Amino acid sequence: MREDSHKLAAQAEKLRDEIDRANYRYYVLDDPEISDAEYDKLMHRLEALEREHPELATPDSPTQRVGAAPSEKFGVVVHRRPMMSLGNAMDAEEMREFDKRVKRLLKSDADVEYVAEVKLDGLGIELVYEDGRLTVGSTRGDGINGEDVIRNIRTIKSVPLRLRRPENGKIPRLLEVRGEVIIPRKAFAKMNQERDEAGEPVFANPRNAAAGALRQLDPKITASRPLDVFLYAPGVIEGVTFKSQWEFLQGIKALGLRVNPLSRPCKGIGAILEYWNEITEQRRELDYEADGVVAKVNSYALQEQLGEVSRSPRWAIAYKFKAQQAETVVEKIDVQVGRIGSLTPVGKLRPVQLAGVTISNTSLHNLDEIRRKDIRERDTVLIERAGDVIPYVIRVTREGHPRAKPFEMPAHCPECGAAIVHEEGEVGYFCVNANCPARMRESIRHFASKGCLDIEGLGDKLVAQLVEKGLMKELDDLFGLTKEQLAGLDRMADKSAHNVLDAIAAARKTSLDRFINGLGIRHVGEHTARQLALKFKTMDALVAASEDDLLGVRDIGNEVAHSIREYFDEPRNLKTVKRLIKILDVEPPAHIEGRGAIRDKTFVLTGTLESMTREEAERKIMAAGGRVTSSVSRKTDFVVAGAEPGSKLKKANDLGVRALDEKGLVSILAGES
Ligand code: IVH
Repeated sequence: MREDSHKLAAQAEKLRDEIDRANYRYYVLDDPEISDAEYDKLMHRLEALEREHPELATPDSPTQRVGAAPSEKFGVVVHRRPMMSLGNAMDAEEMREFDKRVKRLLKSDADVEYVAEVKLDGLGIELVYEDGRLTVGSTRGDGINGEDVIRNIRTIKSVPLRLRRPENGKIPRLLEVRGEVIIPRKAFAKMNQERDEAGEPVFANPRNAAAGALRQLDPKITASRPLDVFLYAPGVIEGVTFKSQWEFLQGIKALGLRVNPLSRPCKGIGAILEYWNEITEQRRELDYEADGVVAKVNSYALQEQLGEVSRSPRWAIAYKFKAQQAETVVEKIDVQVGRIGSLTPVGKLRPVQLAGVTISNTSLHNLDEIRRKDIRERDTVLIERAGDVIPYVIRVTREGHPRAKPFEMPAHCPECGAAIVHEEGEVGYFCVNANCPARMRESIRHFASKGCLDIEGLGDKLVAQLVEKGLMKELDDLFGLTKEQLAGLDRMADKSAHNVLDAIAAARKTSLDRFINGLGIRHVGEHTARQLALKFKTMDALVAASEDDLLGVRDIGNEVAHSIREYFDEPRNLKTVKRLIKILDVEPPAHIEGRGAIRDKTFVLTGTLESMTREEAERKIMAAGGRVTSSVSRKTDFVVAGAEPGSKLKKANDLGVRALDEKGLVSILAGES
């Protein structure tokens, strides 16, 4: 008996070690040794073991990231060493002045050894490890007092719950480390898309989303957000000594903490300016938001000698990127109605050039956001475009004359006049009229979009007319349209009517995942639709599935299962789906399982493709079970290089990542079907 329990405990410990190691390889070394599927298998085995023998579960087991129940408010953590802020330099001249000041204070003419780092635009946090175990996690707060958010920080997979013992090194008795919580850009875009599809308000930028997630009272919600972390600064450390910033970064990396691979030692200010140029160029390709570069004097002894002024160190400075910002006037604030009826305020801007594109609209996200920034019609605003993120309003720079009244959400739907529903305390406003023409238009647009039935030629203007003329009241009406009906519409020549009908007819042949996605069920996007198709194989089976059956599908939780059931329980939806089942020629979902060449593989696309757009290529890769990411690392399986490939191809070659040309991509895609 005792023997047995020893054995089981050893087995659990071995699984934990393997999982910790896999996390270390994945997050810290960026060089995973095992596949996601193998990782999942280890986790499931450990979960099963701990479920059967709860006494085996330790607090730092990787299964224990999300255990905690919601709390009412956060406690306070006093930082043992204040968390300082950084002075800024706006141009190279100010950087040179900083360097001169450092030399003057150090009374030395020699080139200063710096460490250059990326300045991450996230949220400052502090982690405390005692004897290798994560015990405290807090926000920066005002630098002296932070909030105790340990239960949320524990849900971040790149934060180890225990430190690794480095080769020929030891685990410090006390290690306080500071860093930044961020949301990677790709994950942010995906999350916002899902929120949009779900009819939930979208976040303005990754930083706001990360801040919101970190300050959730329910750690389960935090766990569902794609948070990530980079560590970059020491707090109080006992039991080991680091002599310099560079040594510290290497040291904490060996302890299993995630550090930014772009950091590097730089001799002299010239090297720092060069680093800034390089990162400025790469900036759009980084998978996270960065707002500049930080230069830190490398030696900790010299840092001490330099000291600080008003809570900013004299040994470090932030050199901000040149902002991609512009000023323009909000001419009008409109309200758009989405497919699920959610209302989004949109600023109509006086067209302005920003980073090479003309901007004339910007989402103002929701009423709370507008109130917070007090944006009104006729105000002049500063807008910013960060990376590929859609431009957003930073602040009002000049009030309109005379000042317009504060914006209010309409009481009635601007499209159909139905009363707007708003729950007290919630952010969203909804038009709940299922016959609202705006909702119908958006539903058709979604149904016909690339990831769904992919009907070419069914543009916005045409859809608007079809709804307005009463030719489309349900999705299936699309397939009953006649040439005469179309020919009667504005700007519809015989030929184009013919083309549209051809495209509609061709779209009858589709796949189950596209069909499911096309229905526009709340909370069901491309990914969930694919999982549902794989599980249920036919639309009839999906329609018949109970909430429990749905909960058995990968990645589907209560809310999604409930929403799917609710959709099919609505008689009108069911009628439409039944009709569509008869009309469409749905291929079984075999092809989405792939033939293995693409499944679970990571792709990076670079350069211009000729036979398809980048979005199409991404969709096809994803449909075959692959992943597409933006930057090349050792984790990348294939780099697809179109015409005029960028630096990514070079990096792929440097790292020995396999490169494909367009033909190669087409041929492995063909192998999947
Ligand atoms: S060092 C005394 N390094 O910028 C040095 N900070 O204004 C303190 N930040 O609150 C921080 N990237 O949240 C440092 N590589 C980096 C950073 C960084 C982003 C943030 C941090 C801090 C703020 C300082």
